[in-house]
Amino acid sequence: MKEKIKQLKNDFFNEIEKISDLTALEKIEIKYLGRKAGELTKILRQLRDLPVTERQEIGVLANQLKKELAQKIREVFQLLKNQASQSAVFDVTVPGLKPTEGHKHLVTQAIEEIVEIFERIGFSRRRYPEVEWEWYAFESLNMPPNHPARDEWETFFIDLKPVGPKGQRILTPHTSSGQVREMEKGQLPIRMINISKCYRRQIDISHVPMFHQFEGLLIDQQVTIADLKGTLDYFVKQFFGSNRRARIRPSHFQFTEPSFEVDVSCGLCDGQGCKMCKAGWLELGGAGMIHPNVLKAGKVDPKKYSGFAFGWGVERCYLMKAGLSIPDIRMLYQNDLRFLNQF
Ligand code: DAH
Repeated sequence: MKEKIKQLKNDFFNEIEKISDLTALEKIEIKYLGRKAGELTKILRQLRDLPVTERQEIGVLANQLKKELAQKIREVFQLLKNQASQSAVFDVTVPGLKPTEGHKHLVTQAIEEIVEIFERIGFSRRRYPEVEWEWYAFESLNMPPNHPARDEWETFFIDLKPVGPKGQRILTPHTSSGQVREMEKGQLPIRMINISKCYRRQIDISHVPMFHQFEGLLIDQQVTIADLKGTLDYFVKQFFGSNRRARIRPSHFQFTEPSFEVDVSCGLCDGQGCKMCKAGWLELGGAGMIHPNVLKAGKVDPKKYSGFAFGWGVERCYLMKAGLSIPDIRMLYQNDLRFLNQF
């Protein structure tokens, strides 16, 4: 019996050294320690048939071996498990880690939406320089040097010498500077939507020194105010919602004649008047029929051609659409994700 136990021990250790996976380990466990037919279990069961003298000695040996085997099995089990987790470089069943998904800035979203709306009626997007000549921003728009109307634009001047009639270099304070640039291409008719960054020396809760405008310009033969009004209505319905209307009121700009202020009917009270609007209307921005002097500056014959233009703030439009009155417009550009994630 003693011999048998020794043999069993040898066999067990020989076998267990050879295995390399958990299934094999399980088989060994069953083979030696299995409750029904394990080799060692059988020996233990035979103990009671032995003479008392032998029973004690063999019993101790067999039970010791049982412990040893169980211990070895546990060790090998741990070892194999560790190996498995280290070599499992890619476990396809583990749920993936999702990186947080970003999205476009709300101004970019607004620009894309505006461009798309105008493209549907034949306008194409243009971009003109942000560092611009004084001439395009003012003089070509019927505002000669020292004209008081220029003051409204709070312009940043670049500290370089003026160059002849082009004047000084400035950061463009409005997208209207693209009007004559577009005409200079000499391709008529024109249907452009010029969206770009504009700069003004203003910073407070309702102004940022850099903001965006979009400028519509249409030049063709026999263009009338009715075409302007139709275009405004179309945009307002597409952008703000089919229940909204546009309204034009007389105003003044040097580069348009007549000039208008464009309003949108309030989405909350539908023109009735509420605390979100001014007597039922919200101000969108300026528009008008292009002044003949501007057409001339762009070498377009005002006797043959006429047109309209409008220029509005992208940020303002977007906030109006979202029905948002944010306490400080500068929040748009502080890149605080707690704010931006909401859009
Ligand atoms: N450029 C003007 C501004 O920045 C807005 C504007 C008014 C543009 C009337 C136009 C227009 O094209 O016709 O305040």
